[in-house]
Amino acid sequence: MSLINIIDFPVLGDGRGALVALEANHHIPFEIKRVYYIYGTAQGLARGFHAHKELKQVAICLKGSCRFVMDDGKGKQEVILASPDKGLLIDAMQWHEMYDFSENCVLMVLASDIYDEDDYIRDYQNFLQEIKKC
Ligand code: TYD
Repeated sequence: MSLINIIDFPVLGDGRGALVALEANHHIPFEIKRVYYIYGTAQGLARGFHAHKELKQVAICLKGSCRFVMDDGKGKQEVILASPDKGLLIDAMQWHEMYDFSENCVLMVLASDIYDEDDYIRDYQNFLQEIKKC
């Protein structure tokens, strides 16, 4: 099973440029309850290093590029996000790390729920224990 689930968004382009429209439960496979974005990431830094118990997310690199490592406790796979018409599905119980942010990177994330620290698993050993129960 691939850990990298990329959603290709339709681009409504014409002579004026490109337009991408994202609808909940259609292009995005859940009800969107939160949007956040990451930018100005210091060079050489990595972020993420957690999994979510329930939350589903789609990450879209609107500008620039960054790399994701996706990990289900059995294996890891990497992907580069570098296009605003592609979304990476981050499912529940997928450990993820992001790094190699380009200087101009703007990474937008659509999430299925509001922020809840109790939904985070931030300890990798704890993640491996929890994944065995799934
Ligand atoms: P964190 O999830 O650690 O960021 P990353 O996964 O990119 O490393 O979040 C950084 C901080 O921002 C942390 O204190 C929690 C807070 N935060 C919110 O308050 N709301 C949010 O929607 C998110 C994603 C983070």
